Amino acid sequence: MLTNYSRIVVAYDHSDLSKKALKMAMNMAKEDQQIQLFVVMVMQPEKPIPYASGYGVVAILESQLEKANAVRNEIEQELKSLPNKTKALLLQGNPGLMIVDYVKQNDADLVVMGSRGLSGLKELFLGSVSHYVVQKAHCPVLIVK
Ligand SMILES: Nc1ncnc2c1ncn2[C@@H]1O[C@H](COP(=O)(O)OP(=O)(O)OP(=O)(O)O)[C@@H](O)[C@H]1O
Ligand SMILES: [Mg+2]
Repeated sequence: MLTNYSRIVVAYDHSDLSKKALKMAMNMAKEDQQIQLFVVMVMQPEKPIPYASGYGVVAILESQLEKANAVRNEIEQELKSLPNKTKALLLQGNPGLMIVDYVKQNDADLVVMGSRGLSGLKELFLGSVSHYVVQKAHCPVLIVK
């Protein structure tokens, strides 16, 4: 059905909906070994703690990086169940910008992502990252809800 897509990017923030998005994209990839699947996680540096020393700030970033790397490894294991070409990557910066840029640079033809992510605020249908990517991506975006 969707096999005319050949390079799929999943935007992953470890939220339940991003897990659902990853599952969906993996199911699409199962339909055709030629489909390439890239899972992109963007880390944003945590807000600096007031009066923190340089050492404190570095320690936060390191623990953040460790956690993110553990998640990345988990996903890479999961992706290994597919015969397709797959990759899980960790990027740093503004999530919306980095996702749109990655999709463009890698000539992806579909993005799969959740309508909402880790934020607890649920009054809007789309979170800010999904809203940004839908508006700016050069290719179709599948929003999972
Ligand atoms: N840092 C990120 N890296 C990769 N994908 C992300 C990231 N943040 C969000 N996403 C993707 O975007 C989807 C929607 O999340 P989004 O952040 O837009 O909503 P939210 O967390 O509910 O609200 P907001 O972050 O705007 O307060 C997620 O399900 C995930 O697919
Ligand atoms: Mg979010």
